[in-house]
Amino acid sequence: MAPFGKDLHPGAAEFSDAAWLDVLTAVEGTYSDLVDYQERLERQNAELEGMRAFLGSILASVSDILIVVSRTGMVEETSASVATRAGRPRGALVGRTLTDLFAPTDQAALADALHRAATARASVTLEAGLMTPGGPTPVELNLSPRFDDRGRAAGVVLMGRPLGELRQAYAQLADSHADLKSAQAQLVRGEKLASLGRLLAGVAHELNNPISFVYANTHALDRYATKFETYFDRVQNGASREELVRLREELKLDREVRNLRDAVEGARDGAARVRDIVEDLRRLSSDGTGEMVSFDLVDCTRVAANWVIRGSKRQVALHFAGADRLMALGRPGHIQQVVMNLVQNAVDAMEDQADAAITITHLAEGDFAVLQVRDNGPGVPTTVATEIFDPFFTTKPVGRGTGLGLSISYKIAEEHHGALRLCETAPPGACFRLTLPKGTP
Ligand SMILES: Nc1ncnc2c1ncn2[C@@H]1O[C@H](COP(=O)(O)OP(=O)(O)OP(=O)(O)O)[C@@H](O)[C@H]1O
Ligand SMILES: [Mg+2]
Repeated sequence: MAPFGKDLHPGAAEFSDAAWLDVLTAVEGTYSDLVDYQERLERQNAELEGMRAFLGSILASVSDILIVVSRTGMVEETSASVATRAGRPRGALVGRTLTDLFAPTDQAALADALHRAATARASVTLEAGLMTPGGPTPVELNLSPRFDDRGRAAGVVLMGRPLGELRQAYAQLADSHADLKSAQAQLVRGEKLASLGRLLAGVAHELNNPISFVYANTHALDRYATKFETYFDRVQNGASREELVRLREELKLDREVRNLRDAVEGARDGAARVRDIVEDLRRLSSDGTGEMVSFDLVDCTRVAANWVIRGSKRQVALHFAGADRLMALGRPGHIQQVVMNLVQNAVDAMEDQADAAITITHLAEGDFAVLQVRDNGPGVPTTVATEIFDPFFTTKPVGRGTGLGLSISYKIAEEHHGALRLCETAPPGACFRLTLPKGTP
């Protein structure tokens, strides 16, 4: 028998070698592809591992409740905080029906919310009790639909926070709000007291005149009474007619009778002035709160401005221009406070100014009654024009101004459905414009 291969076709050995070479090359190629593939897989694996670790660290560290559920409502992932609150390991939660994690009374509402979030493709919010070892803990949940990389619905993500914490935060917020409101009310009271103080200074000054007048006249009356007593004593003691005529001249009784009438009239005028002042005051203070009424703005302004000027002890000329009577709708007591603030500011701005003057103009403009207080002081610099109505903005030294006058006046104007602002044609001096709804005549 011929040795193996010896009888084969002469070209067979070469063919076979070439085939082997092809096979080897192909094997080598496949092997290197496999190695590449393996490397790529390892790289992707490392990336996936990194991603998993990253996601894991997020899930471990979020303090809020985070639950990812599948389209069928099964828990796919939770944050560690859910497991801690539920008192069960995370592994025991994954794979369960989401609703099982919540109180039986809330399960139907939660299932409905899950359905709505998944189908309406919009966020849904609800409150539900998360089961914990100590019983259900109310949590506020926000359910958002989750989509896969092709944009298809893949389930729902739930984010939430225990309502206890939220309520505590709200309660703290409400407390600080209440504190702020009471501090503000105290400041407003302080400002009201300051304007009351100014009013009282004006009143004291105003009352001083007629009262000292009346007082001086009572002294004169006392003197006349002594003279008449002397005369009547002599009459009763039977004095002669000549003696009485002499005494009458000596005591200047004829002149004193005229003086007596003047003194009585003066005292009556003084008393009437006091009565008018008291009447003004009553009118100003009676409508401090309560109903809006129709009132004469000109009258209210005159009284309020005069009080401030008289109380300020400075030489300030006060002029009135425009309407003599202008009905406005509001609370005269509050408007009087605004006018006093504006006039006081003008007086303060013109301190040490010899030609200090204030012009108050009343105008009817459509449905509004307008009041302008203009002074010839230094004016309001444009750099602070927007700030002067802010609470506590003041350029006055500590103890002289709280910076609340204009902010309170602004608020009062708004409460009246009116406005307080700087006039558009301000310089020279400052000009403030108060607009109020028109009253009925
Ligand atoms: N007529 C004016 N002329 C110039 N500046 C003015 C005038 N009126 C107000 N201002 C400026 O606006 C600031 C704020 O006025 P606002 O009445 O609110 O507070 P204040 O007068 O400083 O203090 P207070 O609380 O005692 O009224 C003043 O400090 C002043 O700088
Ligand atoms: Mg002021």
